[in-house]
Amino acid sequence: MANAEKLDNSKLVYEMRKSFLDNKTGKISALMKEMKNIPAEDRADYGKSVNELKQWALEHFEELDKKMKEKELQLRYQAEKQDVTMPAKMRYEGNLHPVTQMRETLIDIFAGMGFEIYEGTEIENDYYNFTALNTPKDHPARDMQDTFYLSPEFLLRTQTSSGQIHVMENSKPPIKILSPGKVFRSDDDATHSPMFSQMEGLVVDKDITLCDLKGALELFVQKIYGEGTTTRLRPSYFPFTEPSVEVDCSCFACKGKGCNLCKGTGWIEVLGAGMVNKKVLENCGIDSDEYSGFAFGIGIERTAMLKYGINNIKLLFESDLDVLKQIDHYE
Ligand code: DAH
Repeated sequence: MANAEKLDNSKLVYEMRKSFLDNKTGKISALMKEMKNIPAEDRADYGKSVNELKQWALEHFEELDKKMKEKELQLRYQAEKQDVTMPAKMRYEGNLHPVTQMRETLIDIFAGMGFEIYEGTEIENDYYNFTALNTPKDHPARDMQDTFYLSPEFLLRTQTSSGQIHVMENSKPPIKILSPGKVFRSDDDATHSPMFSQMEGLVVDKDITLCDLKGALELFVQKIYGEGTTTRLRPSYFPFTEPSVEVDCSCFACKGKGCNLCKGTGWIEVLGAGMVNKKVLENCGIDSDEYSGFAFGIGIERTAMLKYGINNIKLLFESDLDVLKQIDHYE
């Protein structure tokens, strides 16, 4: 046992124990096997001594093994020690993207007025994006939107207005739908991006008038920009509406007095709208003498930019968390 002090782990203890006590190869077992060579008169003494030695070794190794395992446990505790007083690692909680938040808020507002959601496709054919919307080939209004054509027939939709046609082709009035989605135009500056989102609204029923349009949009601007906000309609032009209007809301920043946001006018342009052009109703097989309708198109990024005072649309698309984290509408 001279080497016992050198044993510094339980595996070595086990091996050494084996070298003494293993039934076949152990040194003490070898002494046992010597028994037959011992003269008969000494055999009893010899056997007793070897047994004592074996007993001693068994106890000694058991004690050594116990000590070693305890020591190893302590070392493990030491190595795996946790300092519970250390400051915790912070986990940042994410929030929905401002455009998603605005989209959901708008859906909530119009769903509250009974609008249903229709989501069209981003790849559209020329007919639905333009022709059926009273914008045939060579119509000058096509220049209002710089289009990404995929082929002479297919394109990336430039407006969610295409959803109007799909809905009117497939359902009968009364119709009350909201069609949110991505649209694409070859346009790129501080307030325009080649991809942005719109939300189209369409109501078709008997006796729908411009007053219904104004009422619905007034509720929308009040929910987004505050109770006291009012709207005004200015004449405009879109091929698919007649009359067409540009909808302004009173400036929520200066309450109409005139400021930077409203460029001193007291009014902010928020969206385009109008009464559905009779030709569009007819294109979809809806009797324009019996039914009338209104439509509007809201830019979702534009609405978010106005609400949160963002002057560059790129800030919404650069995924800079320091910017995006500041805009949490739901907080
Ligand atoms: N589609 C138009 C655009 O992208 C927006 C628009 C204007 C939609 C008037 C309408 C509308 O439904 O009536 O510029």
